[in-house]
Amino acid sequence: MTNDLYAVVGNPISHSKSPRIHSLFAQQTGEAVEYTAIQAPLEDFAGTVHHFFDHGGKGLNITVPFKEQAWTLAEHRTHRAELAGAANTLYLDQEDQLVADNTDGVGIVRDLRDNHGVPLKGARVLVLGAGGAVRGVLGPLLDEQPASVVVANRTVARAEALARLFGREHSGIELSACGFEQVEGPFDLVINGTSASLKGDLPAITADVIGADTVVYDMMYSLQTTTFNQWALDHGAVRVFDGLGMLVEQAAEAFFVWRGVRPETSAVIEELRTD
Ligand code: ATR
Repeated sequence: MTNDLYAVVGNPISHSKSPRIHSLFAQQTGEAVEYTAIQAPLEDFAGTVHHFFDHGGKGLNITVPFKEQAWTLAEHRTHRAELAGAANTLYLDQEDQLVADNTDGVGIVRDLRDNHGVPLKGARVLVLGAGGAVRGVLGPLLDEQPASVVVANRTVARAEALARLFGREHSGIELSACGFEQVEGPFDLVINGTSASLKGDLPAITADVIGADTVVYDMMYSLQTTTFNQWALDHGAVRVFDGLGMLVEQAAEAFFVWRGVRPETSAVIEELRTD
């Protein structure tokens, strides 16, 4: 039996952990899956996608910088992809039409709620950042019915736009937007969705967002403690998590979308931690 072919597309792509994650899922589930990494030229993402599916490929994950293009390219979008404004998962439907999905939001919810046992229902949540990464996760987070969500961003207008967009669908939840200076803590959960740490920077919030029981979650991950989580630990946070679990959970959801089989994630997260 030949394996069904899947891949992750990005630029650059050599650092991607997705081939490793999906090969662990394939081993674990016995699914006949082969998963590779493809670097698409910046000027021809669409050509790369069409070539892959024209040659029998079954599904793609999409990463930086192509998630918005993947969303635009698709002929159909799932509801969660529609709201996210970006796609990390592509496949063909029964009419061979390209479908865009987004599993990032489910990924962070499963990691927080199921892997770390963080209660989301009724929680007071602070989300830092208002770019594509935050838009991708807000819908599934709000679906968990937190009491309130404050979206704080350096550029306030972007946070306000997200609050307007998601406020329409989640009218029962107190959803607000502000700049970093206006944030008043503490919160039950603080999620860093900015890319500040890529430049070794921190969002300019004060440490009073962190109380004795605050959970801090950085959507970034790295071998060492992330810049943001280190800042949180230095200011008294006791429970800090990085985004490795989210990465594995979004992959597991994509695997489920494609194969109808849900991999067990905890062993895979452990394995990646020690790679
Ligand atoms: P991504 O897909 O990672 O979300 P993005 O759409 O470019 O990328 O968004 C990056 C996010 O990180 C934005 O919220 C950005 O703030 P602005 O909207 O004000 O640009 C935030 N960000 C990036 N660098 C930052 C820094 N040094 N301090 C604070 N926020 C930063």
